[in-house]
Amino acid sequence: MAGADWTPDLSLEVHVAFQLRIVTDPPADLIRLGAVHEGELVGYVDLHGHEPRRRELGYVIGDSHRWGRGYGGAAARAGLAYGFGVLGLTEIWAEALTGNTASVRILQGLGMTEIDHGAPGPYRRFTISVGS
Ligand SMILES: CC(C)(COP(=O)(O)OP(=O)(O)OC[C@H]1O[C@@H](n2cnc3c(N)ncnc32)[C@H](O)[C@@H]1OP(=O)(O)O)[C@@H](O)C(=O)NCCC(=O)NCCS
Repeated sequence: MAGADWTPDLSLEVHVAFQLRIVTDPPADLIRLGAVHEGELVGYVDLHGHEPRRRELGYVIGDSHRWGRGYGGAAARAGLAYGFGVLGLTEIWAEALTGNTASVRILQGLGMTEIDHGAPGPYRRFTISVGS
């Protein structure tokens, strides 16, 4: 999952063990929610960070045959709703690799504002505050 910045060149077993550990023993600064469509787990949404009112949004839909059906956008919207509505956050930010067109479109579709627009580097960063 290059788009999600997973470390390349690791075996499937290592990835599975790592992801399993996140679910069974999550780090204190990570909330991971399953994205479920018609009873089937199709991905996840993360709200990550240790600041009390501000977290980073991340999302993965998999495997790739599920892409392009609107699940990513729906999962990201649900993550925002959970962050603002349930966690009481005041700001949620996210970043996407510049070449990750689907992810950039999702963030734009959420109504997020791009920060450092045009700044050099591989990532585009976005933010949204409560009530906007
Ligand atoms: C990025 C990712 C979540 C997108 O999920 P998805 O279910 O395919 O997304 P959606 O179907 O909701 O599409 C989102 C938008 O991207 C567009 N899109 C989808 N695939 C696209 C593609 N290959 N090229 C260009 N645009 C694309 C859709 O048209 C949609 O735009 P719209 O809302 O303006 O119509 C998914 O590809 C993924 O999990 N990738 C690996 C992990 C990752 O990159 N996570 C994001 C880290 S920030």
